[in-house]
Amino acid sequence: MEPLGPPSDPPSPWVQRFTDLVPAGGPVLDVASGGGRHTRWFLARGHPVTAVDRDVRALTPTAGLTIVEADLEDGRPFPFAPATCAGVVVTNYLWRPILAEIVACVAPGGTLLYETFAMGNERFGRPSNPDFLLAPGELLDAVRDANLRVVAYEDIVVDTPRPAAVQRIAATCP
Ligand SMILES: C[S@@+](CC[C@H](N)C(=O)[O-])C[C@H]1O[C@@H](n2cnc3c(N)ncnc32)[C@H](O)[C@@H]1O
Repeated sequence: MEPLGPPSDPPSPWVQRFTDLVPAGGPVLDVASGGGRHTRWFLARGHPVTAVDRDVRALTPTAGLTIVEADLEDGRPFPFAPATCAGVVVTNYLWRPILAEIVACVAPGGTLLYETFAMGNERFGRPSNPDFLLAPGELLDAVRDANLRVVAYEDIVVDTPRPAAVQRIAATCP
């Protein structure tokens, strides 16, 4: 049975590359899951997944999937407990007030995979609002504040799927 709605975009190559850092079978939190490309990816690899987004219409209930419809920017506490996730994946989303709480969800032995737009992206288009663009080194600072170990980090301009300035990190919790 197809676990989600219509096929969405392919998973991020960054997420694919570091997926094996997420302990086998461990629970994954997909923050701002959107069309569900990473929810689909981790479900297919045997992980229970919690997908949270304000718009969950792309997600269909299926075994192993917990769907949470929530506005993550409404000022309420982040709805997930610290140190509970084997994997936390965030792509193309930033809401700075909850960044530390997102990182804190990584459990000991778990992994954060985060990739989103960075300052400098405004020359390519949207997002261009600084509220939605990572400052230089911001992901590094976030994981160091949580005592995660950086496995890989990039702050670069990519050409695909379209020109964009991005930061991305893979970091593990000791
Ligand atoms: C650019 S999409 C990225 C989706 C997915 N992470 C991916 O990379 O395919 C941004 C997502 O953030 C979600 N989003 C934006 N504001 C939100 C909010 N206040 N609360 C929860 N989700 C939000 C949107 O609904 C959308 O699904």
